[in-house]
Amino acid sequence: MDKKRFQWQRTMASKTYLISSDRSLLPHAFVQQAFATDAMFWAKPLPSDEALKTMLDNSLTLGIYEISEVTKIAIGMARMITDYTTLAYLTDVYLLPAHQGQGLGKWVIACCRDICLEMEQLRFMVLLTGSEEAQKLYRQELGMQKLDSAEEPLVCMGVRRGKLADAAASSNTVADSREVSSA
Ligand SMILES: CC(C)(COP(=O)(O)OP(=O)(O)OC[C@H]1O[C@@H](n2cnc3c(N)ncnc32)[C@H](O)[C@@H]1OP(=O)(O)O)[C@@H](O)C(=O)NCCC(=O)NCCS
Repeated sequence: MDKKRFQWQRTMASKTYLISSDRSLLPHAFVQQAFATDAMFWAKPLPSDEALKTMLDNSLTLGIYEISEVTKIAIGMARMITDYTTLAYLTDVYLLPAHQGQGLGKWVIACCRDICLEMEQLRFMVLLTGSEEAQKLYRQELGMQKLDSAEEPLVCMGVRRGKLADAAASSNTVADSREVSSA
């Protein structure tokens, strides 16, 4: 699959909405403000615009916009980290409170589903959540199951940065002699 631009548009209750993967439309300030909200309790604003740009440059982020003939106002987002072929990790699904509860959240999840279905070699679409409500939503809209060895004979493994550093400190295996070159 090409890293093509994905775009959808719909009109609801006399308002027109756009979902687009075009990075040039998504204000960095919108993402940082979203990361600062309590609603996105798993995220926090990135410390520099460079870090934010690196994140966005290496993700497929769908911005959700309320649009008119002259404006495109960002109101939400959903981000997938993907190789566009075998794996997609969905995160940072967010909609401004004023726009919630009218189907836009389900719509952006359906757009992510469509993108993943275009990947003929897709092995897994995955995500992390602790919320029961989110699990219900992702079961319903994406057919997801828990990878906890009960529903699928698989477990999902993960580590936060702190414990990864502890593992590096206690491991006998070191990745030394690192050579850095720009690809
Ligand atoms: C999750 C979120 C994007 C849904 O957006 P939305 O436009 O309100 O959702 P829709 O109107 O399309 O659909 C509402 C569905 O989402 C579910 N929902 C609402 N808030 C939710 C939340 N915080 N987490 C998960 N699901 C939620 C509802 O159960 C509802 O399901 P139903 O229609 O079967 O009753 C929005 O609530 C949000 O931004 N929440 C804060 C951030 C967050 O928690 N994101 C990740 C959770 S998946």
